[in-house]
Amino acid sequence: MIPVIAIDGPTASGKGTVAGRVAEALGFAYLDSGALYRLTALAAIQKGVELNDALTVSHLASSLDVRFSAEQIFLDGEDVSDAIRAEEIGVAASKIATMPTLRAALVDLQHGFLKAPGLVADGRDMGTVIFPQAQLKIFLTASVEARAERRYKQLIGKGFSANMTALLQDLRERDERDTQRAVAPLKPAEGAKVLDTSALTVAEAVAQVLAWYNEASTTK
Ligand code: CDP
Repeated sequence: MIPVIAIDGPTASGKGTVAGRVAEALGFAYLDSGALYRLTALAAIQKGVELNDALTVSHLASSLDVRFSAEQIFLDGEDVSDAIRAEEIGVAASKIATMPTLRAALVDLQHGFLKAPGLVADGRDMGTVIFPQAQLKIFLTASVEARAERRYKQLIGKGFSANMTALLQDLRERDERDTQRAVAPLKPAEGAKVLDTSALTVAEAVAQVLAWYNEASTTK
């Protein structure tokens, strides 16, 4: 079986950075599942689709013209790597992510990322729903303050404006939506290892995940 490392956790917990580096260290493919929700939100907004029109949004998701390269993400041939990181796209993504039909429409696309020698998948439901067979499941988290600070730096670094008070509020609302939704709510998968990165550097978090993976692959 092709190995999968599932890394789930709340918004701005550092999952993307950690997951990307773990994939690089192991030579595995990397799935940023949140990007698929963000791409769908961006496509809907660009096409003037109402974000509460579940049927049209889900159709849009199943016919997304996306391409991932090592560093960039293309939608309809256009580089949208930075555009999908805007906070309003994240908020829109988290709203449409509550739609069961949209989640179903994105399943095959996500499974398509599974390739030898292995996959690191990052999201909310990687270990619970999309890759329940994962060899290693991690719930990566951090305090809401640490996460708001990271998101602030990330947004400023990408040239977006950001406001700490608004970000904290935004994160709390997003946590609430992600954990309370009926379908695939955010929660640690059974057997998941919880990693709180509030006081860890990226390198320390990566090292811990790799150590757990080595352990899991030698005991199986
Ligand atoms: O970067 P951030 O953690 O804020 O978000 P993301 O991972 O890019 O995902 C954007 C939104 O998509 C999240 O707020 C989730 O509501 C949703 N999402 C989801 O429902 N399931 C996933 N597997 C990944 C993301």
